Amino acid sequence: MEPFDFDKIIPRRGTNSYKWDEPNDADVLPMWVADMDFPTAPCIINALKKRVEHGIFGYTFVPDSYYEALIHWFERRHGWHIQREEVLYTTGVVPAIACALKALTLPGEKVLVQTPVYNCFFSSIKNCGCEVAENPLRREKDSYIIDFDDFERKCSDEKTTVFLLCNPHNPSGRVWTKAELQRMNDICLRHDVRVIADEIHGEVIMPGYRFQPFAAVDEACKANSVVLNSPTKAFNIAGLQIANIICSDARLRRKIDRAININEVCDVNPFGVIALQAAYNEGEAWLDALNIYLHENYLTLKTFIHEQLPALEVCRLEGTYLAWVDIHRTGLTADGACKKLLHEAKLMLNSGTMYGEKQGGHYLRINLACPKTTLVEGLHRLKKVLTLEMNNPKG
Ligand SMILES: Cc1ncc(COP(=O)(O)O)c(C=O)c1O
Repeated sequence: MEPFDFDKIIPRRGTNSYKWDEPNDADVLPMWVADMDFPTAPCIINALKKRVEHGIFGYTFVPDSYYEALIHWFERRHGWHIQREEVLYTTGVVPAIACALKALTLPGEKVLVQTPVYNCFFSSIKNCGCEVAENPLRREKDSYIIDFDDFERKCSDEKTTVFLLCNPHNPSGRVWTKAELQRMNDICLRHDVRVIADEIHGEVIMPGYRFQPFAAVDEACKANSVVLNSPTKAFNIAGLQIANIICSDARLRRKIDRAININEVCDVNPFGVIALQAAYNEGEAWLDALNIYLHENYLTLKTFIHEQLPALEVCRLEGTYLAWVDIHRTGLTADGACKKLLHEAKLMLNSGTMYGEKQGGHYLRINLACPKTTLVEGLHRLKKVLTLEMNNPKG
């Protein structure tokens, strides 16, 4: 495998980085927002350089080669046969969620989510005039399982028309299996519930696990779903704003296309179009090396916490680069711990409450996508505050 240097520390402060420049204290170590502190794959940088050198950045067209890159990637890597006419492009997965919801729901309807879950799901559902219905995931040992009885109950509510799935799941770290996805779809079909599958984390998969695209489970899943994906998360190009919507139902696709136009998210930028093609045509070796590096970081975090902070429990990471850490035994709330970590150790993490008050109230989300030395520095900061807290719970 080609060597790629994920150890190199590249300063990001002063680049208008949301992750690094939003905290206006230069001593803060940010391990929150889900982007990575690694440069993207060399093939993408080279393709972008070439495009920049042209010097003219007018409105862009999405060429046939874009669709070919996307189709071949999913065929090659995931055994999913996408037809070109099933694909719509837009400026991001969150805009895609908004468009899919607009096409599939009426105000006042309920959209089912599995909490704890990516925070924008809540805002997108509410912005669409819908209500959030929750199917809380159940903690079992160091992982999460689906409460299928509750899932069926929630789907059977006649106001529930859409299930917004996160596959793989942020922040629990679960990579749903084919059997789980099929069972969820069977229930949805029984109750006339459509599935929107957000698969933005589908390429960040730990060794031993396999990402199963929802629409590739079987024909029934394909017919009942709208799948949203993008190379932006795995290739660290989220700022380039590009995503795809895959929908095999032509009538529904036309409605989504209309929503994309009504929401004015139909014009993508030339860099996103170029970067997606470079990622999908040439980025495979880099991505495989990245996943190995991320897994090593996960093991480093797990071992450190096991040895130095045994009151904490790290959930099993099957996919994503976001560790989900249970802190309930420290006696701290997630919000309280995050405040303390920021003030006393200048470590910025995401509080679990963002992903569901009840489900996340005693969890921290830690972004592992950084050079190992940065991660270790973050872990020492975590230890400093949480050890003190546990030794002096009222202090
Ligand atoms: C599940 C999920 N969906 C969507 C996004 C963001 O997508 P985009 O930046 O393409 O709007 C994120 C970012 O972390 C995410 O975790």
